[in-house]
Amino acid sequence: MARRNKIALIGAGNIGGELAALAARRELGDVVLFDIPEKVGVAQGKALDLEQNNAVLGADASITGSSNWDDIAGADVVIITAGVPRKPGMSRDDLLSINLKIIRGVGENLKSKCPNAFVIVVSNPLDVMVYELQRVTGFPGTKVVGMAGVLDSARFQLFLAREAGVSVKDVRAMVLGGHGDTMVPVISYCTINGIPVTQLITPEKLAAIVDRTRGGGGEIVKLMGTSAYYAPASSAITMAESYLKDQKRLVPAAAHLNGEYGYKDLYIGVPVVIGAGGVEKILTITLTADEKAMLEKSAAAVRELIDASKKL
Ligand code: APR
Repeated sequence: MARRNKIALIGAGNIGGELAALAARRELGDVVLFDIPEKVGVAQGKALDLEQNNAVLGADASITGSSNWDDIAGADVVIITAGVPRKPGMSRDDLLSINLKIIRGVGENLKSKCPNAFVIVVSNPLDVMVYELQRVTGFPGTKVVGMAGVLDSARFQLFLAREAGVSVKDVRAMVLGGHGDTMVPVISYCTINGIPVTQLITPEKLAAIVDRTRGGGGEIVKLMGTSAYYAPASSAITMAESYLKDQKRLVPAAAHLNGEYGYKDLYIGVPVVIGAGGVEKILTITLTADEKAMLEKSAAAVRELIDASKKL
C-alpha cells in the first residue's frame, strides 16, 4: 500500500503558509509547518486554517504546525524559507549574517532527522544559503537545490508576454546565474511558441525587460514592505512536485556544480532535470559570448559572498 509523502516546510511565514496551501490543495502529501517556538502558534493556526480549507475544497492531507524537530523526521521533501525577508532598500545580500546562522541550525537538524530528503532552499541570499545547507548537511548535491530560476524566469516570461501582447503560456525563457542583480536572463534561448523573441520585441524593449526582471523582487519589496510570496511558493512547489511525481521537469535552479560551465564547488542557477533521483541532470548549454560574460560576473558575485560567509 502506498503511503502519503511527508513534506516539511521550515519557516511558517508568508512563503511557508502559501507553500502549505499549495501542497495540500494538490494533495502532494501530509504537511508539517515548522517554525521557532515563539511562532509555533502561528504555525499551528495556519495548519488548522488550511485543514479547514481542505475540508471546503475536498482535499486529503494532514497539515500540522510544530516547533519540535522530531515532527519532521523522515520527511521526503523539505522546503526551507526560514529566515528574515528583505525590507525596502535592502539587497538580498544584506540578509547574509542573520540567515546564515539560521540555515546552519536548520542543516544540523535535517542531517539527523531526514537524511534522505530532497531539500529545496528558498531563503536568501539564495545561492549562499543553498551552498551552506549542502555543506553543513553533507547531503549529496543531487538532493539539495535552490529555488530562484523558476521564479526569475516566470517574471521574465510575464514581462515578455505583456510586451508582445501574447499569452504567458506561449513564452519560454530561462534566467540563469545567481539570484541577485547579476542574474542572467538568457535571450538567445527565449522564444514565443518557437519564434525567437528578438523577432517580436525590439532590442531596446528587451533591455528594459531584462532590467525589470533583475529588479523584479525588489519592485515588490518596495510596494509592500516585504518580499513576494505567491510566485516564490508556486515555483518551489513546481520543483517539489517534479521530484515527488518523477516528472523530470527541465527548469533553471541553483545546482551544485562540479566542473559544469567551468565552475566547481559552487551553487548557481543552471538548467537541470528534476525527477525521483533529485537533480538528475545538469544541462550544459551553449551560451553567446555576452551571456557567458554575464554568467562569469554572476558566478564571481556568488563566490565572493560564499567567501564572506566562511568568515561568519
Ligand atoms: N527555524 C524555523 N523557522 C525560522 C527560523 C528557524 N531557525 N528562524 C526564523 N524562522 C521563521 C520566522 O519565524 C518566520 O515565520 O521563518 C519565517 C519567515 O517568514 P517571513 O518572515 O514571512 O518571510 P518569507 O516572506 O516567508 O520569506 C522567507 O525566503 O524568499 C526568501 O528573502 C526571503 O529569506 C526570506 C525567506
